[in-house]
Amino acid sequence: MRDALEVLLDTLHALKEDGLERVVADDASLAQLHAAVKAMGLSAAATAPVRNEAPKAAPRPSPAPAATFPSASAPATPARPPAPSFPKPPTVKIPAEGSKAEKLAAVAAQMQADPVCNKHLHAGKNLVFGDGNPESPVFFCGEAPGAEEETQGIPFVGPAGQLLDKIIGATGLSRRDVYIGNIMKWRPELPTLVGNRPPTPEEMAYCLPYVVAQIEIIQPKVIVALGLTAVNGLLGHDPDRKMGAIRGKQFSFHGVPVIPTYHPSYLLRNGTAKSKRMVWEDFLVMMQTLGMPISDKQRGYFLPKSA
Ligand code: URA
Repeated sequence: MRDALEVLLDTLHALKEDGLERVVADDASLAQLHAAVKAMGLSAAATAPVRNEAPKAAPRPSPAPAATFPSASAPATPARPPAPSFPKPPTVKIPAEGSKAEKLAAVAAQMQADPVCNKHLHAGKNLVFGDGNPESPVFFCGEAPGAEEETQGIPFVGPAGQLLDKIIGATGLSRRDVYIGNIMKWRPELPTLVGNRPPTPEEMAYCLPYVVAQIEIIQPKVIVALGLTAVNGLLGHDPDRKMGAIRGKQFSFHGVPVIPTYHPSYLLRNGTAKSKRMVWEDFLVMMQTLGMPISDKQRGYFLPKSA
C-alpha cells in the first residue's frame, strides 16, 4: 500500500512540476485514498497536492492515479486543509548603513521575530531565511524548506540540496560562492510531519517582502528560479504557466533577470539525460549571463553521445 501511495505522490509531484495545478478526483476516489492513508496511520493531508476542486480553465483529463482507488462508501475528506487567510505582508526594513552581510542579518532578525512566520512554524523547528555569500552574483530561489531544512534552519540541505550543490559545482562555482533562499520562509504546515506540500499563493505573498529585501541587498546579476512554484511566487501566480513553456524565455524581478528551471527534486524523480540536459542548459544560460567561462566539456554535458 505504501508503494502505491508513493507512486501516486511521485506522479502528482511530476505532474505539478509540469505545470498541472489541479487534479480532479471524484468523491469516491478521494474517500478511498483517505481510507488508505488513514490505515497507514498518516493524515490524508500528507497526500497533498491532491485537491478536490474543479479546474478553472482548459480542464485536462483526470490522470489515472486517482482512478486506481476504487469507490468506497466512506464520506469524502478534502486531502488538503483550507488555505489559511493571511494578514498583510510585512513591511521589511533594510538598514541604510552596513555591509550586505549586516543588512541581511538585520532582515533575518526581523523575520525571526515575525509573529506570523512563527505562528506557522512546526514545534521545535526553524524558519529558513537563506544561506550563502551576500556578494553572490546569483540568487537561487527555491520553493520552501522541507524536513531537513526546517530542522537545520538552512535551505537546500536535504537530497534536493545535495543535487543542487552538484549542479552548482559543475559550473565551477561552489555553494560558498552563491546565495540560496526560498520563496517561503517556513515549511508549509501539514497535520503530520510526513511529506511536503507546495506553499499557497497567500503564503508566498506574505513571505515575498523578505525575498525582495534579500534581492535588494544582494543585488545579484541573475536569479535562478528553481521550479514552477518559485517562478509563480516571484512573477505572480499563473495557474496556466508551465515550466516546459517558459524555460528559455526572459523574465525579470525587481530589475534582475530571472532564469526559470526545473526544481532539483524533479531531477531526483525524473533523472533522464533529457531532463538533466534541460536543467544544465538553463545553468549554461546562467553562466553566460554572469560572463563565466564555459569549456567545450561543460557545453556538452548530458548531450546524447554521437554514434
Ligand atoms: N526544496 C526547496 O525548494 N527548498 C529547500 O530549501 C529544500 C527543498
